[in-house]
Amino acid sequence: MKQDEAGGGTLSPAQTTVTYNGLTFVPFISRQAISERVNEIAASLSRRFEGSVPLIVCVLNGAFPFAADIFRSLTIDAEIAFVRLKSYDGMSSTGSVKQLQGLNEEIEGRDVVIVEDIIDTGRTMAGLLKDLASRSPRSLSVATLLFKPDALQAEVNPDYVGFEIPSKFIIGYGLDLDGLARNLPDIWVLHEECQAV
Ligand code: IMP
Ligand code: MG
Repeated sequence: MKQDEAGGGTLSPAQTTVTYNGLTFVPFISRQAISERVNEIAASLSRRFEGSVPLIVCVLNGAFPFAADIFRSLTIDAEIAFVRLKSYDGMSSTGSVKQLQGLNEEIEGRDVVIVEDIIDTGRTMAGLLKDLASRSPRSLSVATLLFKPDALQAEVNPDYVGFEIPSKFIIGYGLDLDGLARNLPDIWVLHEECQAV
């Protein structure tokens, strides 16, 4: 990785870039903007599931920072569990979703909230929804930090969306390029593809 000021400290969006595997990325969504949306979504979930103990299902690997931040911001009791799915190779969807680790928890009669980093084609989420719905939860909802509506190819309607974004390749805050860049606190977009927000 070649990185200029990205790991911490102050961002100066116009000049700062990060480079992975020869590809240059520019700032897209700041950690402050992410944090504000995380708090808003966590507040909505806390209101909606007051009196229940929802099971938060974090979709590994990408959703772990988002799920951790959401989970910490909940003001109600909740549990967390993990599933591990893989559909991306490099910068594109492979079209098939591999389940590397399923959900062992009993979810019958429970309020279940799937927490995902990004919905792109929607295939990952559609597959997971089908699987979990067949196990009779009391309710099943989806919170995704990012949503690319123009890329959607499956019937998926997320209940909570942090940011709707164009179909551009992004990294950071859990999102990777071949395993790298997940640790960046901000979200970055491939250079010249999009203006920073
Ligand atoms: P889908 O099944 O096409 O909706 O893909 C969802 C998964 O693809 C996400 O959970 C991410 O892991 C990955 N993904 C989709 N778009 C991007 C991106 O722009 N950058 C990095 N990973 C992405
Ligand atoms: Mg993911």
